[in-house]
Amino acid sequence: MRILIKNAFLVLEDRVELGDLLTDGRTIAQVGGVIDGPCDKVIDAKGCYVFPGFIDTHTHFDLEVGSTVTADNFVTGTKAAVVGGTTTVLDFATQERGMTLMEAFHKWENKAKNSSCNYGFHMAMSEWNDARIAEIPLMIENGVTSFKMYMVYDNMRLSDGVMYEAIKYLAKEDCIIGIHCENDDILKARVKELKAAGKTGSRYHAVSRPNIVEADGVGRLMDAAYLAGGPAWVVHLSTKEGLAIARRARERGQEVYLESCPQYLVLEESMYDAPDGAKFIMSPPLRSKDDQEALLKAMAAGEIDWIGTDHCSFTMAQKAVGKDDFSKTPNGGAGVQNRAEIVYTRAVKGGYLDIVEMGQLLSTRAAKLFGLYPRKGALQAGSDADIVIFDPDAPHAIHAATNLHNCDNSPYEGYEAAGKARDVLLNGQLVVENGQLVAPGKGEYVHRDRCGRYRK
Ligand code: URP
Ligand code: ZN
Repeated sequence: MRILIKNAFLVLEDRVELGDLLTDGRTIAQVGGVIDGPCDKVIDAKGCYVFPGFIDTHTHFDLEVGSTVTADNFVTGTKAAVVGGTTTVLDFATQERGMTLMEAFHKWENKAKNSSCNYGFHMAMSEWNDARIAEIPLMIENGVTSFKMYMVYDNMRLSDGVMYEAIKYLAKEDCIIGIHCENDDILKARVKELKAAGKTGSRYHAVSRPNIVEADGVGRLMDAAYLAGGPAWVVHLSTKEGLAIARRARERGQEVYLESCPQYLVLEESMYDAPDGAKFIMSPPLRSKDDQEALLKAMAAGEIDWIGTDHCSFTMAQKAVGKDDFSKTPNGGAGVQNRAEIVYTRAVKGGYLDIVEMGQLLSTRAAKLFGLYPRKGALQAGSDADIVIFDPDAPHAIHAATNLHNCDNSPYEGYEAAGKARDVLLNGQLVVENGQLVAPGKGEYVHRDRCGRYRK
């Protein structure tokens, strides 16, 4: 199938160019200028931006959390993703204690069958010992070249010493490890204190984990990476204090990758006081306008590497488990469909970013670091034909009822977005047409190369 996209604003890596793009089968055949047939289908993209398919670096589909499981599995989550312009998700396969990395990998492979966008896995590790380390070459062979460790959650938490060892080991393999940065001891002490004082409502989730709780974690990560001589990747950065510490680490020559999320750009702490405040219980919690502004300015300055969603959805019934105790509420929110439209509205229309930078944040840099470039993240001849036609003039409000998420609530309910993904090509096939998913289940596993450490 040859698809010809005409009259587009092509979002290239350093400029936007008015022109055409031709696909041939699974790849891009020609980019730029006026292209005339032969082809099987013509799409007029007049007035629209054409981006390389967006990559969401941070999703949790079909994740067991305590005694419950996320509302979205791969079938529902990837439908929402692709309609929002995300053609690849990197989900966190999770190695529970006592499980091998290969078992976790196979478990996630099975979960991800019938996905509607392409998918790869980071491996979240809950153990670091000789047996697990011995499996890392197998992970690399299977296309898993990025890992994650948590400073929090009793079933996942690992020590700073382990984080140091993992950074050092993985750097030699040109792999990377992302760290969930929060001070678990302090936040637990504060949770205990708040509960003892009868402060059990949703807003106290944020009170239990103030900015400094994240900043402490970021600081420990930066120091561990400095001493280990390897890269540091902060997942879901949410605070100006954490940002300042990461900035200082870069100033002393460190290789630092920063991910933030749409919720930390448009939502704020006061929202916990809403009647459905539990839907905002996520970690890190929502912050202040000052934090939003600091992150947006950092995005504008090229300091934030990419935006992932941390999509981890729960229904209001699931959230209600914590109605008398915020600390029992499952953490996470729905957002995989809404990332591009929010970044476009808040950051591009808001005057912080241009369109080229939006492409970098939503696609190109993630492709580079996570071993996908130039197969993905680029509009180049030979690259995969994962393509988003984005309409910048499509005002609409976000609603849980119209999102494809399998979730009855949205943290972004009522958010007025200025544009949206109109059409999406996945592996050369038109899967979303005029905002409708016309070909579900076409996602494939993405076998990734070692990391392209562009800040080394
Ligand atoms: O609250 C969140 N973000 N839940 C998902 C797991 C994590 O911490 O990333
Ligand atoms: Zn997460």
